[in-house]
Amino acid sequence: MKRKVIIDCDPGIDDSLAIMLALSSPEIEVAGITIVCGNAPVEMGAGNARKVLQFMNRLDVPVYVGAEKPLRRAYINALDTHGADGLGESFLPEVEGYRTDMDAVTFLRQSLMGETCSVIALGPLTNLANLYKEAPDAFARIEELVSMGGNYKSHGNCSPVAEYNYWADPDAADIVYDAFARQHKKIHMVGLDVTRQIVLTPDLLEYMYRLDAACGAFVKKITKFYLDFHWEWEHLIGCVINDPLAVAYFLNRELCRGFEAYVDIETDGISIGQTVVDAYDFYKKEANAIVLTEVEVKEFFYLFFARLLHMKKEDLDLIEQIVK
Ligand code: BDR
Ligand code: CA
Repeated sequence: MKRKVIIDCDPGIDDSLAIMLALSSPEIEVAGITIVCGNAPVEMGAGNARKVLQFMNRLDVPVYVGAEKPLRRAYINALDTHGADGLGESFLPEVEGYRTDMDAVTFLRQSLMGETCSVIALGPLTNLANLYKEAPDAFARIEELVSMGGNYKSHGNCSPVAEYNYWADPDAADIVYDAFARQHKKIHMVGLDVTRQIVLTPDLLEYMYRLDAACGAFVKKITKFYLDFHWEWEHLIGCVINDPLAVAYFLNRELCRGFEAYVDIETDGISIGQTVVDAYDFYKKEANAIVLTEVEVKEFFYLFFARLLHMKKEDLDLIEQIVK
């Protein structure tokens, strides 16, 4: 039976790739996409989700708009990284029609009160914190929460110590991690330690294009700006695609390994947004997270390509040579 998931995200270039992976994976049913302010303002994010759904021929998947600002701190978008349209300055035609009959939190609440449902969170955790505040009973029914965010030993991408999703709304991340601690459950923390290793290179893009011109052209179009950004800021030829790893890990737990720990989020000061991972059990608190630290990079790309291009792993032999 397909597992039901809601993707809470801020598309966003890598969010879009993650949505494409989820929609191409038969093990899961994407019940809906909820949008949070993050990389892009919410309405732009909702429009981008619809553009991706249009490309995937899946406009049946409903998109709901959520928080337009973080809980407490001022909203800081990441359009410098994702382009003026939030989708790599691809400026694809607008696709109207995200759902306005309810907001993201209401959709999450209603869905969670029904069939068993998990959440893959690819943006700041504002919608989920609001869900917890408004409907803790529904929040408690989240089967599994996989969250792209945070970092353990890896450096941050917004400060020396903080990753964007948790830095953008540290109060929300704090509420959600705390709620999981109270409920004796664990968040799967797919942080920069593992996502930084997922680099989509020009060779991989070209390979994708050669195998499937339509999909390859779409991915090339939305990632070009992101590649330029990585060259300019990190002197990297390629771009780090964080969010698809969270979906891939949801599909296959063998892709990443890590350890259980209590995780707290810094909500103020120079370390704002930092994930304080109590790997050495100083706090003597029950673990509320599985902190992922190792990833099978080649296996990720086999899965990513196989699903997006509708191919078999054994027909993707060049990945062996391209991915180091
Ligand atoms: C995260 O921040 C966003 O820019 C990406 O979409 C990803 O979710 C990485 O820090
Ligand atoms: Ca994201």
